[in-house]
Amino acid sequence: MFKILVSDPIADKGIEILDDAGFEVIYNPNPSNDELQSYLSDIDAWIIRSGTKISSEELSDTRNLKVIGRAGVGVDNIDIKSATNKGIVVMNMPDGNTISAAEHTMAMMMALSRNIQIGHMTIMNGEWNRKTLVGSELKGKILGIIGLGRIGREVIKRALGLEMKIVGYDPFVNEDVFDTENIEIMGLDELTKTSDYISLHVPLIESTQYLFDIDRLKMMKESARLINVARGGIVNEKDLSFALNNGIIAGAAIDVFEEEPLKSDNPLIKSQNILLTPHLGASTHEASEGVSFGICRQVKDYLLESKLSNPINMPIQDMSQLKQIQSLLDLSEIMGKISCQLLDDSPLESVSIECIGDIEDSKPIALSLLIGLIQSMTDLNVNFVNVGSIAQERGIEFTHSISSEQSSYSNLVKLKISSQGKEIKIEGSASGKNDYRIVNVLD
Ligand code: NAD
Ligand code: MLT
Repeated sequence: MFKILVSDPIADKGIEILDDAGFEVIYNPNPSNDELQSYLSDIDAWIIRSGTKISSEELSDTRNLKVIGRAGVGVDNIDIKSATNKGIVVMNMPDGNTISAAEHTMAMMMALSRNIQIGHMTIMNGEWNRKTLVGSELKGKILGIIGLGRIGREVIKRALGLEMKIVGYDPFVNEDVFDTENIEIMGLDELTKTSDYISLHVPLIESTQYLFDIDRLKMMKESARLINVARGGIVNEKDLSFALNNGIIAGAAIDVFEEEPLKSDNPLIKSQNILLTPHLGASTHEASEGVSFGICRQVKDYLLESKLSNPINMPIQDMSQLKQIQSLLDLSEIMGKISCQLLDDSPLESVSIECIGDIEDSKPIALSLLIGLIQSMTDLNVNFVNVGSIAQERGIEFTHSISSEQSSYSNLVKLKISSQGKEIKIEGSASGKNDYRIVNVLD
């Protein structure tokens, strides 16, 4: 029976899927360190939201873990490299909370513009402050969207309804998919200088860390406002606090923080013209149910049927093709095992795989061959997820290609291995389900 740990709060709908599948479910949102330690050694799957941090330390304590399911989008709280090295699939639920995050962005932008948070707080303190809380209209203002993915595009749709002008920056999307009547694509510096409002919708990755530091904040208009419903760490909090308290920008609405939960000495708490929410972007009934149901179903399908949806660290995009070429994959794995025996302890230098005939993609075949080869050298669990990184760690160069060479076989997998001046050649062909053969060994 598979054992599943759920260490962040998720909606019941998802837990029901796991229970119905007959899994043993440990549902402990926010476990203590000792509790966590006691679970890790024998769990098969681990489901989290943004509250749990999975580092290489936790992963090193797992022995059976096959899949980490992130009920949400951002995977910056998971050490993907370590998971990949251990052959653990990481999957997320990328579109379950898009609308909620986009709506929260709009709510933040509107509340900030009209000082709603200050109005509310001052009334609660017995004050009636109409004169000092004069806001700005959104109509006609320029909204700069950084990150034109799922959430960024939903924000654009809603902002167009408010008659805002949209400018956007995202170096990884094709400009042609946007209607130039609705959005002007521009460089990051130009967007920063032009916008009245800037909303961030990028993941936290190396290139976005502290994207908004004091230098960029100084580029913004004095009257401009910044909204971050993406991730803490994209904005430098000390710099933002300085910018707000010194009139460098007019306001900021922040949902996500460098350290969560927010500490009482965080400089943002004492900043002027700020609106803070405790990571509420995805906190709606609809999104909670959607991501919980979706990720639990994905994890169940992976454990029971090896079906992969939304994998983050799987080198093969279309997993459905694997079933159709199963006999070629089995053949390749066996060729890898045989070549390892022929190597006779000489260090492996390079592996080249050439596919001929009716083979459309050489990558899964090459990876399967490497699995057979490397599995024979290690007690690690080698699979599609980690085989590339293990090969790289061991300095094994591997190439794979499709060749138009003619052959009397309907398909042919040719393997050539070099090892200290020695060359090993093996060829194999598959002709149907479970029907495959080695057709050449060492010429
Ligand atoms: P997405 O992958 O659809 O879009 C992200 C976009 O950012 C992509 O188009 C990508 O090309 C772009 N990008 C990457 N690096 C960039 C860079 N250096 N400069 C400009 N653009 C860059 O993701 P999404 O679903 O729109 O979500 C975006 C982020 O929002 C997530 O990574 C997550 O961290 C965050 N999020 C937060 C909440 C919340 O509760 N506050 C909820 C959902 C998502
Ligand atoms: C996400 O990345 O999906 C959000 O941060 C929501 C969350 O899981 O809390």
